[in-house]
Amino acid sequence: MKDKSVFICQSCGYQSPKWLGRCPSCNEWSSLVEELEEQRPAAEVSFPETEPTLYRDIKAAEKQRLHLRMEEFDKVLGGGVVLGSLVLIGGEPGIGKSTLLLQASRDFAEQGETVLYISGEESLEQIKLRGDRLGVGEGRLFLLAETNLERVLAQAERVQPRILVVDSVQTIYSSKLTSSPGTISQVREVAHQIFRLAKKNQISSFLIGHITKEGSLAGPKSLEHMVDVVLLFEGERDHSYRVLRALKNRFGPVSELAVFEMAAGGLQAISNPSEFFLRERPAEEAGSVVVCTLKGTRPLLVEIQALVSDTLFAGNPRRMTIGLDHFRSSMLLALVEKRIGFGFGSQDIYLNVAGGLTIDEPAADLAVIVAVVSSLKNKVVPPDVAVFGEVGLSGEVRSVSQPGLRLKEARSLGFRTLILPKGNLAGPDAMEAAADLQVIGVDNVRQALKVLF
Ligand code: TYD
Ligand code: MG
Repeated sequence: MKDKSVFICQSCGYQSPKWLGRCPSCNEWSSLVEELEEQRPAAEVSFPETEPTLYRDIKAAEKQRLHLRMEEFDKVLGGGVVLGSLVLIGGEPGIGKSTLLLQASRDFAEQGETVLYISGEESLEQIKLRGDRLGVGEGRLFLLAETNLERVLAQAERVQPRILVVDSVQTIYSSKLTSSPGTISQVREVAHQIFRLAKKNQISSFLIGHITKEGSLAGPKSLEHMVDVVLLFEGERDHSYRVLRALKNRFGPVSELAVFEMAAGGLQAISNPSEFFLRERPAEEAGSVVVCTLKGTRPLLVEIQALVSDTLFAGNPRRMTIGLDHFRSSMLLALVEKRIGFGFGSQDIYLNVAGGLTIDEPAADLAVIVAVVSSLKNKVVPPDVAVFGEVGLSGEVRSVSQPGLRLKEARSLGFRTLILPKGNLAGPDAMEAAADLQVIGVDNVRQALKVLF
């Protein structure tokens, strides 16, 4: 049988018999790469066949888990890594994936587990250099610099590790396929074989995958359905913090989130992220306000900053946002002009989330407006005030989820006054969390501004 060639989109996996400049499925440009369509014999049906089981006869087995010493990482996995599960960790190059997994490997080895760390990217010496900085010491941590999948599998059978790390899925290739490493077919084959190995030998396996700046897991994106857990490791290059969160978890919730700081001795968990993001907040400056936002189920206090200044570009003032949705911010500005009557026609407006975080939650709406008006009027928001609330197009302030969590976080960091949607005051959990806080419920933007300024 002759192998047929197909063109496969490296971004979404779309297949076409001929080359196309743009993928019709995901609209990515020049993403189609020629690959040979591998002709495989149909899988043999294995007997005895499995039979359907009556639902009530199925016993819920508690999954056995290995715990990570890095508590924050452990939590993101849903309370440890399940034996024989396959975890994909995606992140941009240089963000710290190898560091994170080498630290985890170190901890597993120190707990007496056998760990096999495969690196297709770095030499053993390079890894050791990093390991020395991370304080890797005693224990059964094996390193293997290898890019061939079949050899990796053979060594895994020999070493019989409890933990396997593959760094990275894009550098390993199977010699059974003709496509080059990193292509969709190769990446899928590698993941598939590691998945089988993990299940067969009960090895908890971690696959590292590089993703592009645009946030698509490129090759790895096409693996999401094959693995048990997908984690994303993100952060800004010029900031030291890193955020680890789950996108998918067959064995736990996807709402946990961990924040780390990249330090000289590796990644350090930050147990109080709100404090971390607020630590350099200027005391009494106009244009700054703290919002109680949620990342997953984690409440986070962050500072939103606005700078409103006379424009040099008459008729075409600047609108810049960093860390906030640009269109949503423009909408809020338009709303303030129309409903409150402030004019921004001759003003440049810059909006920023301090610390380099990204907020993609409408609960930050009210804070954006407050920051802008504070800067415009040059009036300071008292430093012990925090706000949250979604704002609708007629200027109404709408309730958001989890007011109790947000209030609790604000109180624990010493905030005294909270401005929030009136609708959120009704919930019992909010009232309880409010306790000794001064909570001011508002119906619309105008009220909020009146209270503050
Ligand atoms: P790395 O784990 O190699 O990233 P990835 O595997 O995601 O490509 O780490 C990248 C950066 O981390 C590198 O620029 C150096 C820095 N780093 C530290 O600051 N401290 C450390 O202790 C280590 C090991 C790395
Ligand atoms: Mg790496």
